[in-house]
Amino acid sequence: FGKEVLHFQRVGSTNQVALELARKGYPEGTLVVAEEQTAGRGRWRRPWLAPPGKALLFSLVLRPSLVPYRVPEVTLVTGASVARAIHEHTGLRVGIKWPNDLLYEGKKLCGILVEMEAAAEQVNYLVLGIGINVNQERDDFPPELQDTATSLRMILGEKVLRLPLLQRLLEILEDDYQEYCRDGFAPSRERWLGYQVTLGRRVRISVGGKEFSGEAAGVAEDGSLLLRLPGGDLISCNSGEVVLCR
Ligand code: BTN
Repeated sequence: FGKEVLHFQRVGSTNQVALELARKGYPEGTLVVAEEQTAGRGRWRRPWLAPPGKALLFSLVLRPSLVPYRVPEVTLVTGASVARAIHEHTGLRVGIKWPNDLLYEGKKLCGILVEMEAAAEQVNYLVLGIGINVNQERDDFPPELQDTATSLRMILGEKVLRLPLLQRLLEILEDDYQEYCRDGFAPSRERWLGYQVTLGRRVRISVGGKEFSGEAAGVAEDGSLLLRLPGGDLISCNSGEVVLCR
C-alpha cells in the first residue's frame, strides 16, 4: 500500500478524492493523505472535523474480489489493524466499539468510513477512509465533542509523530487485508474480538431509524452484531450506530 501517494494540504474529503481516483482506474493501494479537509465525512452523513496538520486523515483504494454484502467484514478488519498499529506505536490499548469506532476510556480516538462502488454481485472498488485524532488538544474539538472525543496527544501528554504511525499502519493494513483476501474473515474476526469493548455490554442500537436495546451478545461469522432483546430473542444487525449503556 502507498506506492502511489497523493498528499494534499487541503482537500474536500480524502474519501471523495480516492473514490474519483478509483473510478479513473488508480490501482489498489493508492493512498490519499490530507493535512486538512473542508468536507471531511463520517458515518451517517456526519461531518468529520479536524484542525489542519494535527490529525491523520487518509484514504486507501482497494479492489477486493468481493460480493457487496461482505464489505462490513473489511471495516472490522480495518478497525483491528488500526488498533494494533496504535498499540505498537504508542503502547496504548484502544478498544473497538462495534463495528469500528476506536475508543480510549470511552472517548473516540479514530473513525473509519468505508465507501464502495459495486454492481449487484461484485464490488468494483472500495475506499477505506481513516481519521485518527493524533495531536489535537481539547480546545481543538468543537465544544459538543470535548467530552466524547480524545487524541493520542491528550492521552499521552506529548506530541506524537504522524508519519511513522502512518507507515506502520499501512504495513499492518496491507498484511491484514492480504490475509483476509487469502484466508477469509475468521482470523481477522479473532483479532477484532481481542480489541472489542462492546460484547457483554448493555447497548442501544439504531438501525434504519429504529432503536433497539439489549445485550450485545456476540459477533456473527460475517461481522454482524448479535443483540439479545429483553424478551430473550436474538437479532442480528449488520449495520447501525451503537451506544454503550452504563
Ligand atoms: C466515523 O467515525 O463516522 C468515520 C469517520 C471517518 C473520517 C475519515 S478522515 C479521512 C477520510 N476522509 C473522509 O472524508 N472521511 C474519512
